[in-house]
Amino acid sequence: MSIMKDMLGANESLFKNEIALDYSFIPKLIPFREKEQRHVAFCLKPLFQARTGKNVGIYGPPGVGKTVACRHLFNEIGEESEDISPLYVNCWQRNTSFKIMLELCEQLGYKLTHNKRTDELFAVVKGILNKDKKALAVVFDEIDKVEDFDFLYMMLEELYRKSLVLITNYKSWFDELDERIKSRLAMDGVEFKPYNPAETKAILKQRMDYAFVPGVWDEDAFELIAQKTAQLEDIRSGLHLMKEAALLAENQSSRKVTKDHAQEALRKIDTFNLRRSSDLTDDERSILDIVKKHTGQKIGDLFKLYTDLGGNSVYKTFQRKIKKLEAEKFVTLEKSAGGKEGNTTLVSYKDIAKKLTDY
Ligand SMILES: Nc1ncnc2c1ncn2[C@@H]1O[C@H](COP(=O)(O)OP(=O)(O)O)[C@@H](O)[C@H]1O
Ligand SMILES: [Mg+2]
Repeated sequence: MSIMKDMLGANESLFKNEIALDYSFIPKLIPFREKEQRHVAFCLKPLFQARTGKNVGIYGPPGVGKTVACRHLFNEIGEESEDISPLYVNCWQRNTSFKIMLELCEQLGYKLTHNKRTDELFAVVKGILNKDKKALAVVFDEIDKVEDFDFLYMMLEELYRKSLVLITNYKSWFDELDERIKSRLAMDGVEFKPYNPAETKAILKQRMDYAFVPGVWDEDAFELIAQKTAQLEDIRSGLHLMKEAALLAENQSSRKVTKDHAQEALRKIDTFNLRRSSDLTDDERSILDIVKKHTGQKIGDLFKLYTDLGGNSVYKTFQRKIKKLEAEKFVTLEKSAGGKEGNTTLVSYKDIAKKLTDY
């Protein structure tokens, strides 16, 4: 019976390696980021020659390969050189100098961290690097999440051979950095721009080959997902959609992922989750709520609504939070000239859900 032939058996799966769809999976090749990786590598190069390296500031919107390109490069460095310790710290989880030093100690293999203060932990880091005559290359990802800069001062002042690579989604975070730190860091800036549709498709195709049994995807199903991902300019949405569509197919015991499955995945996508709105603070979320209800209005008017509703931030902070929402692509900003109050900014809610299901 052909119906039975098209159905998956109980032990069969469309997935070959589901983990390859995790956001944190690091593929062997990172296409379309050679230039950016080369720039970072160039800044680290002096470390190989027993000199100190340059520091790097990386910025660009979410889901454009900043993290994966750096981790991939750092893995390579780790394999190639005995003289450099390449470390990676995500500041979303380690958001204080103390937690960061603890993490660095652990990554360097030091376990007796109990009861030690930040400066003591840093002395351990320094000691290990000196003893082994090693240079330190460290990525601080999501650097905008850190609450204090002591660790940066310590590292900048007391480590002789090092490169610090700071990553953020908000270029404005670098601009607003304290002049004293900024001049000490003297960073090379590296921008990550969104991928074009062809690049997006190639990246998703690579992941598809890692993750799925060959031939299970109908071409038009994949095409639809690639196209939507290119519109959203965030590779993570494509990984999420591929997984969802395939799970829907599996639930129906289908041997193929069809366009219907892809469309269904698009309909049920939790855009909020996708955009990691959980990364927003309560305050930012309530600001986003206000923009959603009053989309297209002037920033000043929105601020008034915000304070009327009991919001505590002053105007300057409010503006900064709106900028962050823009960087995370929750809202769009548009300058409007003229009017009796002069220039102002109009803030609009970005309805990704609509964009996604609009096919
Ligand atoms: N050029 C690329 N090649 C392969 N995978 C990529 C590439 N760019 C992004 N990705 C994948 O897309 C997802 C998002 O990338 P990520 O590095 O986390 O973005 P960012 O740090 O800029 O927010 C990750 O799963 C990553 O592996
Ligand atoms: Mg990242």
